[in-house]
This record gives sequence, C-alpha cells and structure tokens, in this order.
Amino acid sequence: MIDKEQFFLPSHRLIAGNWKMNHNHLEAIQVTRKICLRLLEKGELSNRSVSIHPSFIALRSVQTVLESEGSSVLLGAQNCFYEPQGAFTGEVSATMLSKLNVSLVIVGHSERRTLFGEDDQLVLLKAKSVVANNMIPIICVGESSQERNDGSYKEFVTKQVISIVEAAPKELLSNLIIAYEPIWAIGTGISASLDQAVEACELIKEATTRAVGATKEFNLKVLYGGSVNTNNATDLLSHESVGGFLVGGASLDPDSFVEIVSSVR
Ligand code: PGA
Repeated sequence: MIDKEQFFLPSHRLIAGNWKMNHNHLEAIQVTRKICLRLLEKGELSNRSVSIHPSFIALRSVQTVLESEGSSVLLGAQNCFYEPQGAFTGEVSATMLSKLNVSLVIVGHSERRTLFGEDDQLVLLKAKSVVANNMIPIICVGESSQERNDGSYKEFVTKQVISIVEAAPKELLSNLIIAYEPIWAIGTGISASLDQAVEACELIKEATTRAVGATKEFNLKVLYGGSVNTNNATDLLSHESVGGFLVGGASLDPDSFVEIVSSVR
C-alpha cells in the first residue's frame, strides 16, 4: 500500500524498474529475490519507494516472492487495457492487475506509442482505468531527436501533457506520475543532462498547473527516464524537480538497480 501523503512529497523519490520484454518468470523470481536481499543489506532506506515492472507472465510469481519476503518493493506493470473484461484477445485489464496487488502501471511508454500505435486518447483511457482500480499510472511523455534538434520539444511535451491532464478526472489528478522520457535517450546510453532533465520536469509541472488551474488540488510526481545508470543517477537526482527515475536496461541487473536506488539522498 502506498502512503500517498508521503509518496507525493517532493523529497520522496520513486525508482521504478521497467524490465520491458526481459526476464522469463523463472529469471524474474531470481532477480526479485536478489533485489530484496540487496535492499535488506542496505538497511532502512528512507525518502524513496522502489517498484519493479516485470512482464505480465511474471507478475504472479514476483508478487509471491515480494509477499513472502515481506518486501516494501512495489509491484508494477508495464501496460494494461482499459476495459475491465471481454472480447479483447491478448489484452490484460487494469482490473486484473489490481487483483495481483499491482500498485503502479506504466502507460503510454514511447515503445507502446511508436511500435503499437498508442495515441494520447488511448493513453488517457488506460490511465483512467488504472486509477479507477486504485492503482497509480506512470504516464510517459517525451520527444524524439527530431523535436529536440529542431527546438520544438517544449511545445511537443507540453501538448502531450495537456492532452492528458485537461481531460483527467479528479481521481487521476490526485494520483499523477508523469515520466519524462526523451526517446533519443531511451536505450541509447545517452542520458539527458541534469539541466535538460530539470527543464523538462519543470515544464511538465508548469503545464499541468496551467491546465488544471492553480485553485485545483493535484498530486504530481515527475520522473526522468532514459539511460539512467549507476554513473549518472546521483547527478540526475541532485535537483528536487526530478522526482525519481524510470529505469530500463540498468534495472535488469539487481546490483546496478539497487545501486541506483541507493543514490537517493
Ligand atoms: P533505458 O529505458 O533506461 O534502458 O534507457 C528507459 C525506459 O524506456 O523506461
């Protein structure tokens, strides 16, 4: 269970490990055990939450390990479908995920948008279904190298954010995590600089405040994702605007993932 008051404090960071299509369920069990062990060795880690996002087929196994270890690591999913059940071959609903004690669901990852044609409208429907099932969505936004190079990236990211928050119901606004993941930084080894990450995270906060209206209450955490590793994590977390990370490649190895978790101060 997430203590929301604590979780949405700016000083509280979320380190989320997105395993993508890696680790079959047997590997996922081993990796989860190692993460639990490494975290135990680190002792009490305050000011942070940790989540791991295995593939759908490994969720039940990972849930069992986390529960038997009594771990505070949160279980996350990488995607969902917005209808609760029905004739949607190959899909998994947010309702089903909530039955596995999933706390966080990534929606609108750039790989889903570019490879599987997801648009802002679909991402919003998915995010709504996640909150309707008492989980928190991690909504991904971010520009490609084209928008970065031609200078239109601020406009691009603002538009993505606004399309979600303008139409978001109250329960989504009070449970909002947006991950700024520039596509040019994902899996390339070229992370955004601290200045670039801070600029985008602040832009997202400002765009949300403008769209929602300063009088309305909302809870927002903005993460950075894109080639986060053990070498750049401390620097990228040195500014409070970066509310944590969505880590891909470096989350596959328990040692490097826990080292990134440890870089939270
Ligand atoms: P990466 O992926 O850390 O491997 O760049 C991040 C992501 O896609 O969430």
